[in-house]
Amino acid sequence: MAVERTFSIVKPDGVQKNVIGEVYRRFEQAGLKIIAAKMVQLTQAQAEGFYAVHKERPFFKDLVKFMISGPVMLQVLEGENAVAKNRELMGATDPKKADKGTIRADLANSIDENTVHGSDSLDNAKIEIAYFFSNTEICPRTR
Ligand code: TYD
Repeated sequence: MAVERTFSIVKPDGVQKNVIGEVYRRFEQAGLKIIAAKMVQLTQAQAEGFYAVHKERPFFKDLVKFMISGPVMLQVLEGENAVAKNRELMGATDPKKADKGTIRADLANSIDENTVHGSDSLDNAKIEIAYFFSNTEICPRTR
């Protein structure tokens, strides 16, 4: 397995519920390292651009509205198999269908307020990391 980087967001509901640390604990316990992080209030344009792939979907407007409803934590995670590992920790999009013990099953309210985002492929991880982080903001650790 290769060391990969993936992109993650603790969404506004997670920040509001004060579970940033709980989400980070799960990343770290699974062997993922946080190599960049920042809290931001997304603009409408940033949120629309980030979710552009969903712009024709019926939930797009509400998704953007939710993503700008409060601050979010953005992070880059690094580790073996990081993309799949993060998706596994997150659980299914709909918390009701997510496996017990996953972030969404344990912490999320609903499919539209589902606490975390995580890149779904290595290619998208690269695009999403570059969307929010410059190279100088990423701090890889010596392994
Ligand atoms: P998607 O990329 O399908 O899921 P995931 O976040 O698990 O990769 O959808 C992106 C986000 O859009 C999802 O996290 C929450 C929102 N969404 C809805 O609000 N309603 C829906 O029916 C779907 C499919 C997604």
